[in-house]
Amino acid sequence: MSNYPSPRATGATGAAAGAAQAGTAATGTTRGRDEAALILARCDELATHTSLPGGVERVYLSPHHASVNRLAARWMTEAGMTTWQDAAGNQCGRYEGFDPGAPALLLGSHLDTVRDAGRYDGILGVLLAIAVVDRLKRAGVRLPFAVEVLAFADEEGTRFGATLLGSRAAAGTWDTAWLDLVDADGITMRDAFTAFGLDPDRVAEAARTTADTVGYLEAHIEQGPYLEEADRALAVVSSIAGARRFALTLTGVAGHAGGVPYHRRHDALAGAAEIVLAVEKEARDRDCIATVGHLQAYPGGVNVIPGRVEFSLDLRGEHDDRRDEVWLAIQATTAEVCARRGLTIEATETHAADAVVADPRLRDVIRDGIAATGDTDPMTLFSKAGHDAMAMADLTPWAMLFVRCGNGGISHHPDEIVDAADVAIALDAFEAAVRGVASEGAA
Ligand code: GLV
Ligand code: MN
Ligand code: MN
Repeated sequence: MSNYPSPRATGATGAAAGAAQAGTAATGTTRGRDEAALILARCDELATHTSLPGGVERVYLSPHHASVNRLAARWMTEAGMTTWQDAAGNQCGRYEGFDPGAPALLLGSHLDTVRDAGRYDGILGVLLAIAVVDRLKRAGVRLPFAVEVLAFADEEGTRFGATLLGSRAAAGTWDTAWLDLVDADGITMRDAFTAFGLDPDRVAEAARTTADTVGYLEAHIEQGPYLEEADRALAVVSSIAGARRFALTLTGVAGHAGGVPYHRRHDALAGAAEIVLAVEKEARDRDCIATVGHLQAYPGGVNVIPGRVEFSLDLRGEHDDRRDEVWLAIQATTAEVCARRGLTIEATETHAADAVVADPRLRDVIRDGIAATGDTDPMTLFSKAGHDAMAMADLTPWAMLFVRCGNGGISHHPDEIVDAADVAIALDAFEAAVRGVASEGAA
């Protein structure tokens, strides 16, 4: 983060700029309520772009990815931005600073979803970012840097297993080997790019440069219960857990459910069950979090011993070394189970991201933004959920704002919920933070 002169109103809009400054403390005003209502209506509208009948699922390089990009582009244009879709399929918008071509403060989050998702994970952050730019435009304010909104196309990794694809392309850490990954229908990512209308050999062109970037700010729902428990609307994020994901295949021998006596069985599902319980235990023992979220037994007949089981492992920890210890312990248990039951195991790592710590200066800017809304001692949270900020950390300093979600903080679930009043406060805080980057740079 470099130093910048102060924000400037453009043309005859000095009064409007002053009004907008006051607006950062305008929580509860008609304007704030209307903006929050619009954001929530847009979340509802985006949720109709889904491949899952009766639910929400929107994956990378799908027709619904294309249609939400078009919608986001329209809203970005209305907010005064020039727009484009980058080479990785991220929808981008840019609001120039008072020097056209100046480096940009990036605001972002994602528009893709998990299967049977809620309406706010990622999406709320994109819409808050657009709304912040809309406020700048309405106030006629230009900042000493450009503000860009990045609506990332893949954070969840739902379609191809590898995650953070949109933000990794933007951060310049795209791996061309990902193009060979296949989805559940056997379509390679390379072919999916072509079908989407993008050139798979040009994805690297989505990469930003550190020199052209001031920093990265992301607003996101908390996806946990702590804000709700503390009766607070917003928090500043201190760091994000390191994560590793694996695809595992356990192979035994299928056979007749009645005919094969226990001493001759090599039941892959019974072995997997032992491993799943070990996953939970080893992670808990080391203050990490691990989940087997997908498990499929083959051939899948009620009267057939499972000869093969495919399952996933998602492993997270605040400290990378402890997270890696959990994986070593799981491997040791797996080897023991395989030896005892006559099974074999194959493991492929599909995702690895180290824990990242927010930039202290940008974190303080978020904290001050929250403080400007009246919460003078904001809560700080460590994120066990992954975010695009993890990928952007390779490019530029980052910080995040968390917004309370209700229902015990449930997320990756259709019952995900946010409160309109919290959205209005989050918008005030996020706007104040963006303006704060300019003031902080001037200090
Ligand atoms: C992203 O939502 C994650 O898996 O943390
Ligand atoms: Mn998610
Ligand atoms: Mn998310």
